[in-house]
Amino acid sequence: MAAWLCFEVASGFEVFIVCKTALVTGAANGIGSATVRKLVSHGATHILALDRDQSGLAALVSEMADSVDIIPVVLDLENMDVYEQLLEPYLNDIGQLDTVVISHGVSDENELAEHQVWDKVMNINLNATRYLLSLLEKKLGQGSSVVVISSILAKVGKQRNTAYCSSKHGLMGLVKGLALDWARLGIRVNAVLPSWVDTPMLRRELQKQGDMTGASMNQMLRQIKKRIPLRSLVSAEDIADSIIFLASPQAKMITAQSLVVDGGDGCGV
Ligand SMILES: NC(=O)c1ccc[n+]([C@@H]2O[C@H](COP(=O)([O-])OP(=O)(O)OC[C@H]3O[C@@H](n4cnc5c(N)ncnc54)[C@H](O)[C@@H]3O)[C@@H](O)[C@H]2O)c1
Repeated sequence: MAAWLCFEVASGFEVFIVCKTALVTGAANGIGSATVRKLVSHGATHILALDRDQSGLAALVSEMADSVDIIPVVLDLENMDVYEQLLEPYLNDIGQLDTVVISHGVSDENELAEHQVWDKVMNINLNATRYLLSLLEKKLGQGSSVVVISSILAKVGKQRNTAYCSSKHGLMGLVKGLALDWARLGIRVNAVLPSWVDTPMLRRELQKQGDMTGASMNQMLRQIKKRIPLRSLVSAEDIADSIIFLASPQAKMITAQSLVVDGGDGCGV
């Protein structure tokens, strides 16, 4: 059984809750690192933090209290041949995983004939996710939950983004099919579909646009905020809050679903 606890706060309201053990990919930056912090603030005690960014992982570990066991696992998820051997000792030590959050990803632009970019984006975003989850199955059980960070580009297209859009649409098929396969085991699988999250990924993309158009970062951020009905960029913590909800017992009857978190950007014109 997954080790979730419920707290009663002074007001009498029940609040989320704690998963004790978790694995988070893309944990060194952006949504992944915000999720690790949020899981810890909700009582997680053992977290496997996977990323290829060694210094980012080290910084995350050093900011955490001694009472929390953040175990950094430096791994390039494009390199699927090494997963099993590298992860085995960590997985043997940790026991059952209550929560798995898939937050790694790359967003390289491509033209259709750029085969190398296509393969890289599909391998990292989609194939690595499937392969990693296949290895984690034995560590999941009744009450465990998987949350995959997809994108609003799992619903719509974007120019020069066929690889990224295909990988994110593909993740939705994975989430829906796997949720049905694993329902009999009591494991839930859901997705969060963010847009305009202020992370290093978004800033890198804007920087490239700015280099081409001459617009400053602040000008572009102002323009983005204007088009979002709630008039703010989404923060990594906003996404982490959605992940905590989907992983919690409050969402115990929610599986195979996707939650759009975009400040209303996709609502209409
Ligand atoms: N930021 C946004 O606006 C936005 C919008 C929609 C979806 N997303 C999705 O959210 C997820 C998290 O994005 P973010 O904004 O936090 O990005 P980010 O670039 O800030 O963080 C992504 C992390 O993934 C890691 N990573 C990338 N490739 C890897 C690999 N091959 N092996 C191991 N680690 C790898 C990076 O090192 C980084 O730490 C991604 O899947 C992204 O596609 C982000």
